[in-house]
Amino acid sequence: MSAEFPVARPRRLRRTAPLRRMVAGTRLHPAELILPLFVKEGITEPHPVGSMPGVLQHTRDSLRKAAHEAAEAGVGGLILFGVPLHKDGRGSAADDPEGIVQLALADLAAEVGDALVLITDTCLDEYTDHGHCGLLTPAGEVDNDATLERYASAALAQARAGAQVIAPSGMMDGQVAAIRAALDGGGFPEIPILAYSAKFASGFYGPFREAAECAPQFGDRNAYQQDPAGPVGESLREVRLDLAEGADAVMIKPALAYLDILRQVRDVVEVPVAAYQVSGEYAMVEAAAANGWIDRERVIMESLVAIKRAGADLILTYWATEVARRLA
Ligand code: PBG
Repeated sequence: MSAEFPVARPRRLRRTAPLRRMVAGTRLHPAELILPLFVKEGITEPHPVGSMPGVLQHTRDSLRKAAHEAAEAGVGGLILFGVPLHKDGRGSAADDPEGIVQLALADLAAEVGDALVLITDTCLDEYTDHGHCGLLTPAGEVDNDATLERYASAALAQARAGAQVIAPSGMMDGQVAAIRAALDGGGFPEIPILAYSAKFASGFYGPFREAAECAPQFGDRNAYQQDPAGPVGESLREVRLDLAEGADAVMIKPALAYLDILRQVRDVVEVPVAAYQVSGEYAMVEAAAANGWIDRERVIMESLVAIKRAGADLILTYWATEVARRLA
């Protein structure tokens, strides 16, 4: 062996596609993907979401079709968001047994409830006329403790309608404990809670607010969602509190800009960790690809691999069905 040449040659393992496939350290599987879906009350045709090309506000009918397609592709679960026709100060549609999410859930439970996991986002912002995630005090602040009762009631309504996992996303302190108590007391001790534990006040949610029609009508969410530049350790604190309150799995959101948080959390918890590749992450890729500036499929797969490599056991992504098909 000549000393002029390197002895260790990492490139040997990269030379052919079968070699690269064999030694891959990060693999994606359809079962770990979760598809977010929107269902809107009072429409007869699905509505395209302008800022999320390929994503629809569904009718109950088109929702069933999308859920079947996801199930056939092997997607692990779906998470449902409702857009009610009537909104008010307390988000009454959130826990109305005839509310759009509850009705749509019953459809899905009957048709695909055995094929994939039916998750519901539990929050108030889609249901309140002011667009905030909780009830307001007279001064216009979000009232943490009064909101907890609303979340508990909404989670119970979702469970009664057929939700199989409850995912509270409002970032109120104590929300997991309040929902756990309501589920246990209401006869649903077996239903797991997937807590949006580390959820940042993010500009990446912009397109979602069009899809779910839930932009705050005044102010912002900075007083309840985490500051992207917030205290070091805040995310771990949120995660630990949620676990102490009974969370069965935790979520980091958004994904790509918070991979460091994902890795920190994955390294210290013993429960599944989910990452939400949010609407803005989706929109950026779709917009750049539509302009011919990036290779769409390549960037989708690369971003999902990055999220998985950073420690996600579950990934919420609007591309779930498409990617599951590609992986098959
Ligand atoms: C709150 C909720 C939001 C998202 C999921 N749940 C919006 C927000 O916090 O403002 C955003 C998801 C996305 O951007 O894809 N119910």
